[in-house]
Amino acid sequence: MLVTGKELLLDAQKNKYAVGAFNINNMEIVQAIVSAAEELDSPVIIQASQGGLKYAGVEYIAALGKLAGRNSRVPIALHLDHGTDFDQVMQCIRHGFTSVMIDGSRFPLEENIAFTKRVVEIAHAVGVTVEAELGKIGGTEDHITVSEKDATFTDPEEARRFAEETGVDYLAIAVGTAHGVYKGEPKLDYDRISEIREVVDIPLVLHGSSGVPTESLQKAIPLGICKINIDTDIRAAFANAVGDFVRANPDEIDPRKILSPATAAMKEKIMEKMHIFGSVGKAWK
Ligand code: G3H
Ligand code: ZN
Repeated sequence: MLVTGKELLLDAQKNKYAVGAFNINNMEIVQAIVSAAEELDSPVIIQASQGGLKYAGVEYIAALGKLAGRNSRVPIALHLDHGTDFDQVMQCIRHGFTSVMIDGSRFPLEENIAFTKRVVEIAHAVGVTVEAELGKIGGTEDHITVSEKDATFTDPEEARRFAEETGVDYLAIAVGTAHGVYKGEPKLDYDRISEIREVVDIPLVLHGSSGVPTESLQKAIPLGICKINIDTDIRAAFANAVGDFVRANPDEIDPRKILSPATAAMKEKIMEKMHIFGSVGKAWK
């Protein structure tokens, strides 16, 4: 069934596991996610970034996500990832997304609060729940230990004020992860997660989680991380599987045959993540 992000994440928060949020661009990724979630009886979040919406079109993405949710026996939320444009967020709500992220992290605190609050008021009025970002989840290398970069990490006191004043439902925090492929090993600031959790009562979200070691993720979850975003690891599984198949079968031209191993590889990767996040067997209703 199709549910809001908040419903999923409050259960995760209560029972100390995290729900995987996997990025989609096409039907095969949606099928891989749903099939993994059903096989493992896991709740899941299907999310599309602005790039995904540009590639496939909001109507296709919304149709795929809603169909996946309605036909599935596990709870699924359809979420907009990193929405930076007010109108696009409204479009997603209009097309039936059950969860949206409004990313005002590029703005100074006051502006981020005002921008986020505007979306929260509208989204809540129509039963859609909202993620926001505070601090900046940034570069792909060496940003974790460099002191000036620490300024982009989420400040706990600002997070408290932000959550209180915006009424947002879940909050993405910058604590040492980065988007894309890591050059070194990411080091999470666990103390910061705990400090934020002490003053912020809503579920916390970890972005840039591909390539983060299993132990790091499993240490972060009990500290308050309830939603874990994965995109890069799925892309890699897809690209490797397609590459392997095409190299081994250079004369094959049937897209179904070329893409089936990729769907299976993505499903495998997603199931691996669900085990790590502790969401296996947590589907409810
Ligand atoms: O919002 C999407 C995720 O933060 C993607 O992170 O590049 O580490 O998979 P990733
Ligand atoms: Zn992200």
